[in-house]
Amino acid sequence: MERRDFFRLGLATGIGTIALAHDTWALEYYPRPSDKKCAVLYGTWCGSSRDAAVWISEGMGGIADVFDVRENPDLKAFEHIVIGGSIRSGVTPKELQDYIAKNKGSLASKIRGLFAVCGNGERPVGPQQKSSYIDNHLAKLCGVGNVPSKVFNGRITKLLLDPQTRKMMEDNYPNIAGKPLENYDLLKRTDCLAFGEEVLASIQA
Ligand SMILES: Cc1cc2nc3c(=O)[nH]c(=O)nc-3n(C[C@H](O)[C@H](O)[C@H](O)COP(=O)(O)O)c2cc1C
Repeated sequence: MERRDFFRLGLATGIGTIALAHDTWALEYYPRPSDKKCAVLYGTWCGSSRDAAVWISEGMGGIADVFDVRENPDLKAFEHIVIGGSIRSGVTPKELQDYIAKNKGSLASKIRGLFAVCGNGERPVGPQQKSSYIDNHLAKLCGVGNVPSKVFNGRITKLLLDPQTRKMMEDNYPNIAGKPLENYDLLKRTDCLAFGEEVLASIQA
């Protein structure tokens, strides 16, 4: 099968496709048909959480539409939703927090997974990050308890930071990481795929 046969950007046609709000553009990716209506919603500044979201969907067999929260998607037609975002100063983007607050009533019973992407000074993430970014942040915002969750190490691409943020990061990073700020990329596709598989298994259970 050719790539264009199963990778479509925002076209509401084909098996498993869900009618979308006219101004919403999802990354739709259907290697295999599915009757499940799944979505991954992400909030990002520089793209780490976008990539994580696409790879999580791939781990789910590619059956989830992937949405940037800045597009204010209408997710009412979806039954299984994964939500995640990148971390700055301990929290996800305001747009994601606002979206969750605004749609909490319709989202809460459909949330099947939560994720966060953070730098953690390039050190491996652990229980502390899960506690801070999932349990005490996303899970509280969403009003959900025990759903699959994962914190991923992310990346920095200095060229993608606005000048003010870049200077602030360059000035402070040695105190955080003990070394100057350089580009790094610790986001692993395999970790995202594994989380997507975990979410899918929980939906099928
Ligand atoms: C201004 C700024 C603040 C950040 N604050 C945190 C933080 O509080 N905790 C953390 O672990 N990582 C922090 N990071 C690292 C980001 O979470 C990491 O680079 C992530 O991959 C960025 O995601 P994005 O590409 O989706 O924007 C920060 C990065 C920037 C640029």
